[in-house]
Amino acid sequence: MGELLGGMKRTHMCGVLESKDIGKEVILMGWVQKRRDLGGLIFVDLRDREGLVQIVFDTDVSEAAFRKAEKLRGEFVIAARGEVRRRESINPNLKTGEIEVFVKELKILSESEIPPIHINDEDDAGERLRLKYRYLDLRKPKMQKVLRTRSRIASKVREFLDENGFSDIETPVLTKPTPEGARDYLVPSRVNQGKFYALPQSPQIFKQLLMVSGFDKYYQIVKCFRDEDLRADRQPEFTQIDIEMSFVDVEDVLEINERLIAKVFKDIRGIELSTPFMRMTYNEAMERYGSDKPDLRFGYELKDLNDIVKDCGFGVFANTVKDGGDVKAINIDGGGEKFSKKGMKNLEKLAKTYGAKGLAWMKMTDEGVDSPIAKFLSLEDVKAVVNKMEAKAGDLILFVADKPSIVYAALGALRVEIARKLEIIDDSNFKVLWVTDFPLFEYDEDEDRYYAKHHPFTSPSEEDLEILESNPENARAKAYDLVINGSEVGGGSIRIHDSSLQQRMFKALGFTEEEAREKFGFLIDAFKYGTPPHGGIAYGLDRLTMILTDTDNIRDVIAFPKTQDAKCLLTDAPALADEKQLEELKIELTED
Ligand code: AMO
Ligand code: AMP
Repeated sequence: MGELLGGMKRTHMCGVLESKDIGKEVILMGWVQKRRDLGGLIFVDLRDREGLVQIVFDTDVSEAAFRKAEKLRGEFVIAARGEVRRRESINPNLKTGEIEVFVKELKILSESEIPPIHINDEDDAGERLRLKYRYLDLRKPKMQKVLRTRSRIASKVREFLDENGFSDIETPVLTKPTPEGARDYLVPSRVNQGKFYALPQSPQIFKQLLMVSGFDKYYQIVKCFRDEDLRADRQPEFTQIDIEMSFVDVEDVLEINERLIAKVFKDIRGIELSTPFMRMTYNEAMERYGSDKPDLRFGYELKDLNDIVKDCGFGVFANTVKDGGDVKAINIDGGGEKFSKKGMKNLEKLAKTYGAKGLAWMKMTDEGVDSPIAKFLSLEDVKAVVNKMEAKAGDLILFVADKPSIVYAALGALRVEIARKLEIIDDSNFKVLWVTDFPLFEYDEDEDRYYAKHHPFTSPSEEDLEILESNPENARAKAYDLVINGSEVGGGSIRIHDSSLQQRMFKALGFTEEEAREKFGFLIDAFKYGTPPHGGIAYGLDRLTMILTDTDNIRDVIAFPKTQDAKCLLTDAPALADEKQLEELKIELTED
């Protein structure tokens, strides 16, 4: 037998031993969590991915092992052969707390320097340090658990899709820009100088081509790349569960996806989601929650006050309505006493980050209303507002008056922020819904043009086909998002499968025929040769994992994530390129 492992072969994982193993001789391998010396006895907590077990060195059992054990320190890697015995003092906090292993033979497989972070879940090292030493950070039980759950989620998804006739087909990573709306990561070509590949923002075009090719049902668990501003739920490279199906309409896609998501929740968390999932149109979601990804675990719904305040004495409100804007409010149930002066200022600050010009408020007290705007309003107006908001003593009403997009964004963000702050969200509750009937286009004021809200291959709703050119802002798409607890976990659509409609769409998006040909000519051509109606969806595996592991930072569900400024602190990527490489690529860097 080889000497590498001292002739030993692992028989058990550390974290799984229990009282039924008492009396067995076992061989364990793992990392030293902690060593305690008690005179003639040395106790070591030995860790592997399954957990901890206490191993004991006793001169009466093995003098040689005891002497070696005196040298052990945290994170040494060892192999230990010994006998499982019942523990004298049971540790109820440990899965293996009823037993311990008396060691007869010890081999030190690898030594460790003192690690820069503590390998336990209570470690409070800053995130930058954790990311720099990610390989150590990942030794923590919590991180192990999350990443293993992620692996199980992916495997359950594959199981379901394989059983339902989907084929896993790979698509290129070096490709042409895909139109998902973010900035592309470009890769220079050495062989074709001056030309660039783009890393895919999604496999969108290829999965549609696979439908043209007749594969009927496709999936891929696939890395996607988007150079966009990063947030707590966004990474520059992330993983999609990408799905496409032929001969389907919206209902078919939603139905099979409900079964997929229900299975994943059941198998991973034992949670039975009731199907069909709730549905809400985009318009309703915006009106009621100010967001196209509403968190339905709490209320604080937006209410429209235009009719009440359109002629009121508070100029800001009255003028906003006259100018075609909206005055809306949310009622923070019981929130009247929850915010100090400074707290209120912070809420206003948050509203302002979304473009609001201010945040008016009304506190409901036993004596009446306390509000900086009360003096501008008649008693009737106040009563009407209170009535509409269904407010009672102790509540807090927050108002924003502005153009609709700002009102929605500000109040939508406030309701979430306040619910978090007041800790009213039940984390064990999963509110799953489809948001449907998205607008087809989104208007960009800065550039004075329309963009596809989902992507340019999304089919308009049949009934809105005729207003594509005449009234684009009201055209709806056959697009849907899966939203869970306020997170956009997935999104998809039924696609345009008709060459001429696709060209109409490109035109509506302001592409000239040449531009459309240059960018997507191959797709337009492909559609000329018999294209089945098709549609699909893509989930963010990272986000789905966040939901299923109760994690609120996307970096915690990715083994080697990037920071907010798109850096990998472990490898120091991105890095400068060699002169020689740049020369080969004929790339010259300019001073900024
Ligand atoms: P979409 O752009 O909505 O659709 O992306 C699908 C899902 O991917 C996740 N996601 C992200 N996760 C982490 N970091 C990011 N930067 C990031 N960007 C997106 C989200 C999102 O719901 N091709 C279409 C899908 C289709 O139409 O079938 C697409 O990519 O959870
Ligand atoms: P002012 O009369 O400008 O001092 O504003 C009185 C209150 O109305 C303050 O609490 C402001 O934050 C608030 N306010 C000002 N503009 C708006 C607006 N557009 N929407 C909501 N509240 C506002």
